[in-house]
Amino acid sequence: MRPRHLRTLLDLSKTEFLQIIEKAQYLKKHPRQSVLNGDVLAMIFEKSSTRTRVSFEAGMAQLGGSTIFLSPTDTQLGRGEPIQDSARVISSMVDIVMIRTFKQADIELFAEYSAVPVINGLSDDFHPCQLLADIQTFVEHRGSIETKTVAWVGDGNNMCQSWLNASMLLDFNLHIACPKNFDPDPELLEMAGPRVTLFRDPKQAVADAHLVATDVYASMGQEAEENLRLQEFANFQVNHDLMRRASKGALFMHCLPAHRGEEVSEQLLEDDSISVVWDEAENRLHAQKALMLFLLGKMQDN
Ligand code: CP
Ligand code: NVA
Repeated sequence: MRPRHLRTLLDLSKTEFLQIIEKAQYLKKHPRQSVLNGDVLAMIFEKSSTRTRVSFEAGMAQLGGSTIFLSPTDTQLGRGEPIQDSARVISSMVDIVMIRTFKQADIELFAEYSAVPVINGLSDDFHPCQLLADIQTFVEHRGSIETKTVAWVGDGNNMCQSWLNASMLLDFNLHIACPKNFDPDPELLEMAGPRVTLFRDPKQAVADAHLVATDVYASMGQEAEENLRLQEFANFQVNHDLMRRASKGALFMHCLPAHRGEEVSEQLLEDDSISVVWDEAENRLHAQKALMLFLLGKMQDN
């Protein structure tokens, strides 16, 4: 039987997604469960990370498994060994693999040749693990996200595209405000259909939103564009003024790391009555533990 993967959120059905969130909430209350009995997670990081690395490592330890950290600088991955070969070798020795890399196609190729589940820990195009944590966070604060309105303000990047996937899976409305030339993939927009609306003005996008989310102007790998992007995104900061235009009780999310004073004001980020960014970060741990149990077929084992 082929293993299940999380290459994008669309690898899950709506029911499966909601089961994972429910399990995550259970694991948040019961963090130590020795159900993995020595299972090993290999983590391949071609980009930096704090949250993803710590949450997967801590999560595996709490579940009775362990992790191996692999970076291109000290493995053959960085010296050009083909992904097909690396996938067959690594997956013959471990039980599950997480990859953070640039090209989404590299994750898909690895998964094609892997004998064990592969998790996308962020690519240039998608960040599905973050969405599991974000939806868990919304559910904990406000209940079901179905039929609600989420506003994405900023770059049409990997986070925005993951929100697009989530809107298709979970049936909520998504308002996206991006500067011209920074839109998400038009094919994804088309796939999402009428539940997604594109705006140029953040003020219009956040009207009636129950949640406003943003991310850095320049993602990892786009460092050379930082100055250009600072100019292009000048009117896209999420702050209290913008949040006042959203629905009463609207939440603010950011996957972190944040650049205070750029995409989000310091005051909003630190305003615990609106900003749930620390819950989002913590929920990475719980959501990914549930995800790993799901992919390993061990959701019912405790
Ligand atoms: N949000 C997120 O993925 O953070 P890290 O880059 O620190 O893993
Ligand atoms: N869009 C950001 C997310 C970081 C978690 C990046 O790709 O750098």
